[in-house]
Amino acid sequence: MPPLATTDLPAIPAAQGDSPFARSADALPVPAQPVAPPAPAHAEAPPATDAARARLDRLMARGAAFLGSRYAVMGGAMSWISERNLVAALSNAGAFGVIACGAMEPPRLAEEIAATQALTDRPFGVNLITMHPRLDELVQVCLDARVGHIVFAGGIPPTPAIRKAKEGGAKVVCFAPALALAKKLVRSGADALVIEGSEAGGHIGPVSLNVLAQEILPAMAAEVPVFVAGGIGRGEALLSYLEMGAAGAQIGTRFVCASESIAHPRFKQAFIRGAARDALPTVQLDGRFPVIPVRALQNEGTKRFMEHQAEVIRRHQSGELDKTAAQLDIEHFWAGSLRRAVVDGDVENGSLMAGQSVGMVTKEAPAAEILAEIMDQAAAVLAARAA
Ligand SMILES: Cc1cc2nc3c(=O)[nH]c(=O)nc-3n(C[C@H](O)[C@H](O)[C@H](O)COP(=O)(O)O)c2cc1C
Repeated sequence: MPPLATTDLPAIPAAQGDSPFARSADALPVPAQPVAPPAPAHAEAPPATDAARARLDRLMARGAAFLGSRYAVMGGAMSWISERNLVAALSNAGAFGVIACGAMEPPRLAEEIAATQALTDRPFGVNLITMHPRLDELVQVCLDARVGHIVFAGGIPPTPAIRKAKEGGAKVVCFAPALALAKKLVRSGADALVIEGSEAGGHIGPVSLNVLAQEILPAMAAEVPVFVAGGIGRGEALLSYLEMGAAGAQIGTRFVCASESIAHPRFKQAFIRGAARDALPTVQLDGRFPVIPVRALQNEGTKRFMEHQAEVIRRHQSGELDKTAAQLDIEHFWAGSLRRAVVDGDVENGSLMAGQSVGMVTKEAPAAEILAEIMDQAAAVLAARAA
């Protein structure tokens, strides 16, 4: 997650845009599909052998050791979704669940951590948004509860927060949106990095994981474990990044429809129906009024956001609103919108944050099954190579 502004967080200006290209999937020209598309090389892959699984384990060993989990897969923290149930389910399944603190106040976070600990004895982490006004207290809550890993998201974490987390015994994971920042974060004490490409759901940076991985893995993978995020939907992709030097992956979108996820059934249904090209980043109408890109499924709300921006800009031009008021007005449009969609099920007006891998979400299934599928796909490639 890059430096962000979101309305689902406290005292933080909100910004989610919408795309002028938003159209229903039916309206888009779809290139004709060949009746029988050529099978990928691994389509006939034999089922993963024990040797292939052992090889996959070796590729994930460093990341898994860092996380203390069976697999080097972090559950991407998703506000309102990554709470006790999904986090514990992921950790129990062998991945590494991460609680999304989002706008929670310290006592609420303490409660959520305790509830998660009651559901799993496996390790899990907590994702803290760096501009939370009570960041220091939230770090303390994690330390008091002996949470082993703190993930700082939404901006460059203040050095004192990193120091406090480490001195308290937690490992620190930071998001690195560029190579220079990756180096700086490691100098500041980050024990591991997440590189999140623009394919991801939620607040995104401008660069794809494909490019970030090429820029950052060769330079940083030897120094600290680097986890890749954004658009990872299948095991083949996970494997390819492991082979490039990634320690593991952070996956969000694929876990939204886990049976254990408390997301509203209508939110899950939108994911099951959604295709990659429906998950678009917001677009700002006017450079004077920045909108931080958020990747989400297009809906009535995204359409109205475009109209809202246009109307606010018109009022600014007519002298009715000064620049600050206009910017705030645009930012407030999405206040509470993710909660509205995830918790209340208002999938028309709420924010349907989703990554491009949403097209690979085809049904609701237990977290363990989704994870096993990804591992099977990765191991099958290794088995096919050895055959
Ligand atoms: C609905 C949703 C909410 C998210 N909320 C957060 C958040 O609160 N904090 C954060 O650091 N990242 C957040 N993310 C990003 C995920 O943690 C993760 O990095 C991302 O989902 C990975 O990309 P993928 O969705 O393509 O798997 C969110 C993503 C989604 C889809």
